[in-house]
Amino acid sequence: MTQPTDRILVLDFGGQYNQLIARRIRDLHVYSEVLPYDTSPDEIRAKNPKGIILTGGPSSVFEEGAPVCHKDVLEMGIPILGICYGAQLIAHVFGGSVKKAPSREYGKTDLYIKEQQHIFKNIEGQTVCWMSHTCYIDRPPEGFEITAVTEGCPVAAMADVERKLYAVQFHPEVEHTPIGPELLSNFIFDICDCKPDWDMSGFIEDQVKSIRETVGGKKVVCALSGGVDSSVAAVLVHRAVGDRLTCIFVNHGLLRKDEEIQVERVFRDLFNINLITVDARDRFLSRLEGITDPEAKRKIIGGEFIRVFEEEAGKLGKVDFLVQGTIYPDVIESGSKVASVIKSHHNVGGLPEDMTLSLIEPLRSLFKDEVRKVGTDLGIPAQQVWRQPFPGPGLAIRVIGNITGDKLKILKEADAIVRQEIANAGLEREIWQYFAVLPDVKSVGVMGDERTYDHVVAVRAVTSSDGMTADWAKIPYRVLETISSRIVNNVKGINRVVYDITTKPPGTIEWE
Ligand code: XMP
Repeated sequence: MTQPTDRILVLDFGGQYNQLIARRIRDLHVYSEVLPYDTSPDEIRAKNPKGIILTGGPSSVFEEGAPVCHKDVLEMGIPILGICYGAQLIAHVFGGSVKKAPSREYGKTDLYIKEQQHIFKNIEGQTVCWMSHTCYIDRPPEGFEITAVTEGCPVAAMADVERKLYAVQFHPEVEHTPIGPELLSNFIFDICDCKPDWDMSGFIEDQVKSIRETVGGKKVVCALSGGVDSSVAAVLVHRAVGDRLTCIFVNHGLLRKDEEIQVERVFRDLFNINLITVDARDRFLSRLEGITDPEAKRKIIGGEFIRVFEEEAGKLGKVDFLVQGTIYPDVIESGSKVASVIKSHHNVGGLPEDMTLSLIEPLRSLFKDEVRKVGTDLGIPAQQVWRQPFPGPGLAIRVIGNITGDKLKILKEADAIVRQEIANAGLEREIWQYFAVLPDVKSVGVMGDERTYDHVVAVRAVTSSDGMTADWAKIPYRVLETISSRIVNNVKGINRVVYDITTKPPGTIEWE
């Protein structure tokens, strides 16, 4: 990253959309960083922010133990924008009144703006915003003016221009608030006076320097999975420390068809990275035997994964660091200080407590598209960089219920067909993720003159810009038709193909 001149800090109160706020601001070429809500005023001052955003969150400000930031933070004279819970917190701290609403206000809501100025500059007087809250500001604190209302919200936005305190009950960071980018841009440029001069160009240099300093003369191992994130992390660390890095690639048998071959080709042949491939297929399969709970699968795989690393790393002599391709969305979805955990991602939530290596996670603050940019700049082939996201626990969470070698084999074949046909149709970059799932269901079919009783396979394909929300992909019927007939005719053990037409929310992208 070019050293940012201006920065906006986002204090995280655990809301579902928090990472989007930082992402939206980075999109406007201003550096933005997310910090825990209770970061001390001194730490905040040291970062010299031009503005602070308080995020939404699941708590109610009047509950005991509700997360609060230090009051000094609100009184530093730095412009503040509170969103949802953040807005209620400002109201609460400065003596306004926050109440529990009789019912939750959720979804698209008409917004009536009182004056087109400050954060609402150049924004139409009547527009639409995205609401998701159970409490609301009933009365603003002294010194604050109500700047927008909705039918259910007497204070949909308020401001104390003198003290540079702004608050909105709705979520400007989500796509469903069309005025969101304008509002954020008004805040960061007009109110915080930021310059749009940040981009990713110096990121590689900065990271190389800092990894070199951290590692010194010690040894590093990398948790290489073959996915975009760990690939970029590995190549980045390799650039910093060369042969001090050994990549350990655990073939846990839960990868897609032929993935291990590609990993060898890119890392051993192209980048000349020290690579150890461990065939741990049987070991994982036996640990997963009889396990049907998705979170249990994640924990087992996460734990086993690190143990295999430790064993292999032990053979290398003294090793101090473990590189992981954790990216920012993994960190958030695994639960910030107050977020409710939706799914624990194995590369964050499942780390065993007895781990003896220190972590290096160079991509921890980056969004997926930023990781891809870094990967391309590092010279990683497009095929690798543009690979669709693949979960750490791999096919274990796509074989629903009990996992067996046979089921994995069937799923790998079906999945390979889905991927080939999406590629043949030229839809690879349009669709965020596309894959096969093997539900724990059998169905009756007929082949030739014979009755069959075989597995059902589900095709899942979603469009998304960040994996946080997703729509099912409107794949042309003829592509679905080819996928279905190829799977049923070529994959022994499958006699029915269904297409998943669920959005996220309320569904998730993966089935487990
Ligand atoms: P969901 O299913 O929660 O998935 O809508 C959102 C994104 O995260 C991926 N995913 C995971 N990635 N470990 C990972 O590294 C996991 O345990 C995990 N679970 C889901 C999923 O593929 C999608 O991209």
